[in-house]
Amino acid sequence: MEIIMNRKDAVALDRKDSFAKKRKLFSLPKGMIYLDGNSLGVLPKAAGPRVRHAVEVEWRRDLITSWNKNGWWNLPRKVGDKIAKVIGAAPGSVIVADTISVNLFKVLSAAVAKRHERKIILSDSGNFPSDLYVAQGLTQFMNDGHRLKVVAPEHVMEAIKDEVGVVMITDVDYRSARRHDMKAITARAHQKGCLVIWDLAHSAGRSRSPWRWSAIVGSSRTGAGRTPAWSSAANLRPRSGPPGRSGADRPAPGRPRRAK
Ligand SMILES: Cc1ncc(COP(=O)(O)O)c(C=O)c1O
Repeated sequence: MEIIMNRKDAVALDRKDSFAKKRKLFSLPKGMIYLDGNSLGVLPKAAGPRVRHAVEVEWRRDLITSWNKNGWWNLPRKVGDKIAKVIGAAPGSVIVADTISVNLFKVLSAAVAKRHERKIILSDSGNFPSDLYVAQGLTQFMNDGHRLKVVAPEHVMEAIKDEVGVVMITDVDYRSARRHDMKAITARAHQKGCLVIWDLAHSAGRSRSPWRWSAIVGSSRTGAGRTPAWSSAANLRPRSGPPGRSGADRPAPGRPRRAK
């Protein structure tokens, strides 16, 4: 890897950067270098007028007619299709809704229901804390012997065994940027009959490989800042659903039950 040692080299590289022209699409306080892309990104210049239009025209003036007139009802799919291009998913397979945690709860509940006889949800200690809390919370809520097993990130592959129902992993470590081998983990999990949920927060643009996961959640935290979360659960749909399902899928043998 080439290491830039001085400002002159960095400026020369900046000049060649084909992405540099995107800079003018964002509104930053003068002289500020802002590197936070996850918690709150930089304001895109187009966002202010668009939000004002949504509030002043679509909400204040058009009121309830906006669901049809301004296409509100279809926005989760419309924006989902835009995000699908960035993450390499098929059109019609991504929905924008809620937060990552809420989406994770939904897809994890569905996945656990589909593998109900297998009691282990496998994850790793590098995962984002709230993802682990969601899984813990779900097992407590179900109160039927399901448990979350957490291993070190480098031991995920060997921990994927027959008793694991769902493998729930975040691709990119938010602290170190360490990445998992998604393809290898997904292949091994499918070989063992598990469903796989990938949290792709921080992964947008990293790869467009058309591998098949069971479900993904994430939000697009690019330079444009944090957008609403999205999820895609192509492989968790019923048998009659559109393509994207893994051949290992079976009809749900049971549903998550409430704690007694
Ligand atoms: C990898 C990852 N997963 C999950 C979350 C939680 O996201 P949310 O607050 O949308 O539930 C975050 C938040 O930064 C994250 O970085």
